Amino acid sequence: MTIEIAPSVLAADFGRLREQVEEVREAGAQVIHIDVMDGHFVPPLSMGPPVCRALRDIGLHLEVHLMVERPERQVESFAQAGADTIIVHAEATPNVHYALQAVREAGCLAGLAVNPATPLAIFAEVEVDVALCMSVNPGWGGQAFIPQSIDRIGRLRAIVGEAPVVEVDGGVEASNAGAIAAAGANRLVAGTAVFGEPDAAAAFADIAAAAQAGLAAGR
Ligand code: DX5
Ligand code: ZN
Repeated sequence: MTIEIAPSVLAADFGRLREQVEEVREAGAQVIHIDVMDGHFVPPLSMGPPVCRALRDIGLHLEVHLMVERPERQVESFAQAGADTIIVHAEATPNVHYALQAVREAGCLAGLAVNPATPLAIFAEVEVDVALCMSVNPGWGGQAFIPQSIDRIGRLRAIVGEAPVVEVDGGVEASNAGAIAAAGANRLVAGTAVFGEPDAAAAFADIAAAAQAGLAAGR
């Protein structure tokens, strides 16, 4: 199994967004994580399809994390803006199955996210390409990793099996990436720990090395 570190542009300097994404691409990033917030599902507003469109020709897999109510209504516009994976939250719609189906019909890989207190049982009811376990409460970058997430990652991997990506989002840094990978996650989102550092490429490489070491030790 390979481990991917997905830098979150929420923590990037938007005045030089493209340059910063190119830096992590040169360091080996293959996936870019785009956090979309609507001021309802989570209090802040963040970004929309134009940011996705601005990065679509950069040669990286664009993963859109929709922290929005009724995400099924936003799927088409992000697919048209170049999203490769679209993740919806289980808590944000009564129509989870329909939302995932809408993502696939739009030509994207389909992800489902759960907040830290949401039972994982829903993952036994749907097929996903990406199963995202939030390790902070969604809405803000720079929060501390919730330690109970390690146990949840293991249980989530047991439910979904080997095929889907198990992703972790929130508070990921070099000091915990090994334990997260050893627990069964194979995509780690990191915002502040990458773009909050003076050398984003070096920070990316440190987290990737820690995750690889954790995977090797954990298996
Ligand atoms: C949180 C977002 C995260 C955020 C992670 O609501 O979904 O993707 O950007 O940021 P850090 O890595 O700073 O916790
Ligand atoms: Zn996110």
